[in-house]
Amino acid sequence: MLYQILVLMKNKKYKFPSESETIKTEVVCPTDTNPMGMLKGGQLILWMDMAAAGCAQIHSDMTCVTAAISRANFIAFAETGDIITIKAKLTRVFNTSMEVFANAFARKVKGSKNQLICEVYFVFVSLDDKGNPINAPELKPVTESEKKQFAGARHRRNKYSASKNMEPGVYKYEKKAN
Ligand SMILES: CC(C)(COP(=O)(O)OP(=O)(O)OC[C@H]1O[C@@H](n2cnc3c(N)ncnc32)[C@H](O)[C@@H]1OP(=O)(O)O)[C@@H](O)C(=O)NCCC(=O)NCCS
Repeated sequence: MLYQILVLMKNKKYKFPSESETIKTEVVCPTDTNPMGMLKGGQLILWMDMAAAGCAQIHSDMTCVTAAISRANFIAFAETGDIITIKAKLTRVFNTSMEVFANAFARKVKGSKNQLICEVYFVFVSLDDKGNPINAPELKPVTESEKKQFAGARHRRNKYSASKNMEPGVYKYEKKAN
């Protein structure tokens, strides 16, 4: 009986955002900064991409690649020695693609406050063993903020779709309406 429940849980068609929410912590070292001692934007995006990839892969149980990174908003800067906390959470699954929202916070070692420094939306695509896109389990939003992000993801995807004919070499979408 317990085995059957475990199999059912593993094969279920949907998952909740909280199941794959990922938190990553880093400490800003001198090699991560520009000559003024500020954390480099590209380094922060790399850390956020890693956290978001972990989140997508935990959800899909498959290897995922970054298909797109939306406009990153750098809200404040972090400095050498700051503790960076990155939170990544799925907002919506379409077919083979998933949107992940990641935000990053900085905290001084002797400070008590976490300050929001960056927000980014990522799109990941789940791949099978041959490297072909494969459908990911559906996502069921539960909380109000999860439902808001879920609805917003549709608008963001529509924006990408609308731009695909304007930008050279950019994507082909909307295989199935979700
Ligand atoms: C991302 C990638 C797998 C898509 O492959 P593809 O052959 O274009 O696949 P499809 O056209 O079937 O698209 C697959 C899904 O990705 C989505 N997609 C593809 N490019 C996208 C983009 N630039 N932005 C958002 N979504 C995108 C499609 O809408 C589709 O979504 P859906 O299945 O949920 O409807 C392929 O372009 C790739 O391998 N890119 C390189 C990825 C990479 O190197 N990343 C950095 C290292 S991790």
